[in-house]
Amino acid sequence: MTAIIQEWHLPPAALTLPRQTVHVWYVSLEQPAPLTHQLEQLLSSDERERAARFHFEHDRRRFIVGHGALRTLLGRYLQVEPTRLEFCYGAYGKPYLAEESTGGALRFNLAHSHELAVYAFTREGEVGIDIEHIHPLADLDHIAARFFSKAESTILLGLPEDQRLMAFFNCWTRKEAYIKARGEGLSHPLDQFQVSLIPGEPTQLLKVEGSPEEVSRWFMTAFVPSSWLCSHLNG
Ligand SMILES: CC(C)(COP(=O)(O)OP(=O)(O)OC[C@H]1O[C@@H](n2cnc3c(N)ncnc32)[C@H](O)[C@@H]1OP(=O)(O)O)[C@@H](O)C(=O)NCCC(=O)NCCS
Repeated sequence: MTAIIQEWHLPPAALTLPRQTVHVWYVSLEQPAPLTHQLEQLLSSDERERAARFHFEHDRRRFIVGHGALRTLLGRYLQVEPTRLEFCYGAYGKPYLAEESTGGALRFNLAHSHELAVYAFTREGEVGIDIEHIHPLADLDHIAARFFSKAESTILLGLPEDQRLMAFFNCWTRKEAYIKARGEGLSHPLDQFQVSLIPGEPTQLLKVEGSPEEVSRWFMTAFVPSSWLCSHLNG
């Protein structure tokens, strides 16, 4: 997986995923009521129960859209009705397609932040994805000291002030994507591996304590959803 192509398209009715490829999609979670209702019809009873448990209405709507969109995309890759898809979960909650949904051949992961959800799909190996809406953080240094490796914190604190926020979110999302790919959640010690974070430098998993072979097992890349790119460019 070495070629990185950053183009954003609307999904066609039938999606094809070549081998050795990762597809990334993003979806706005703020959709009009009729579409939200339509997507809700795709959810399982478990998902509807999860949706109903949200305290705030906007969280409920976003969950419905996020999971309805996941089913829609998976249905288009697998050419099955989205309602027929069944999920199972790893030991730390990573969702997978159940075998009955012909899922053995398709892996996925998703993340949400603010009003966006992102999805990654691949046919081989494990995949993890994360997204964070960049916002000012007063206690950035403390969070880094708590969650990042010593090397990452040192690099972050050595950067000029105007690069720190971007570097922080680079580090956060890359670490999160790695633990999500491994499916281990926070059971994997966050200070035991190192990712690149300096803005403008290549996106990389640099080091995993005790497992030097890990670095060559994974491919890591970064992206910006085009809607965030537009709002960023428009100021
Ligand atoms: C479980 C975890 C993946 C949740 O992360 P999060 O930031 O709350 O949420 P995200 O938007 O990135 O991802 C949520 C999705 O990941 C998936 N997910 C859940 N458990 C997962 C796991 N163990 N592995 C991979 N993916 C998982 C689910 O699809 C979930 O979506 P859903 O709840 O709508 O079904 C976990 O990594 C976590 O709790 N992180 C906390 C944040 C943190 O401290 N990060 C430190 C970075 S330095």
